[in-house]
Amino acid sequence: MNGTLLASAPVAAPGRVREPAAPAFDGAGLLKTGAIELGDGLRVWFRPIRPDDAVRLQEFHQRLSPESQRMRFFSPMRELSGGLARRLTRLDFQRRVAVVVCLPGDDAIRGVARYELVRDGGPAEIAFVMEDDLQGRGVGKIMLHLLARYARYMGITHLVADVLPENQHMLAMFERCDFPRSAVWAAESVTVTLDISRGSCDKHMLAG
Ligand SMILES: CC(C)(COP(=O)(O)OP(=O)(O)OC[C@H]1O[C@@H](n2cnc3c(N)ncnc32)[C@H](O)[C@@H]1OP(=O)(O)O)[C@@H](O)C(=O)NCCC(=O)NCCS
Repeated sequence: MNGTLLASAPVAAPGRVREPAAPAFDGAGLLKTGAIELGDGLRVWFRPIRPDDAVRLQEFHQRLSPESQRMRFFSPMRELSGGLARRLTRLDFQRRVAVVVCLPGDDAIRGVARYELVRDGGPAEIAFVMEDDLQGRGVGKIMLHLLARYARYMGITHLVADVLPENQHMLAMFERCDFPRSAVWAAESVTVTLDISRGSCDKHMLAG
């Protein structure tokens, strides 16, 4: 089966969060598992994060360089607490969505991209982090498009990220994406807003 992230789904009315169609609504069924070959030939797998990933997420966090930890959490954070790991691995596929990237034959987490919708009709807040030796190889950009496609399906029109001003990689990633964007610079952070109601989300399709 072709594992595109989304089944061919209509776009919900802008600004409205789609309610579960039925009790059987299974966000995980929409946010499929699938692979993509990177430009350098490495095949990587994407899947929704699962509740049983909490320890894997803690291990992933510990493998990150202090710099990557700081860029993600805005402060040195050597360990991810069990409580936070559990919270970050529990999705409702409505307001809280996260995709992880893995290498073939290995369930270890190598990167995470997530969004959280704080209020109906508002933008969803996104955050990304890749394992250091996977950075700069195009995975972040793929994950941004995967998340944007799902968010668009859920009726979300804008994604927003708070980024440290010195985080050139994240800012470069946004510059290279296909969505119209605006940025507000402050001393401590840059707030980047992406308009995902425009631009293509379909660039990166997953293969099963
Ligand atoms: C920021 C981050 C998520 C980007 O993910 P990524 O997989 O490295 O990004 P990509 O490889 O898709 O890069 C997209 C663009 O950013 C630039 N870039 C990103 N990382 C880079 C790196 N390490 N070296 C050089 N360029 C890099 C590239 O110019 C690339 O553009 P291209 O497609 O024209 O080559 C990742 O670098 C990371 O995890 N950083 C630490 C945590 C962090 O900063 N999180 C953001 C918190 S909001």
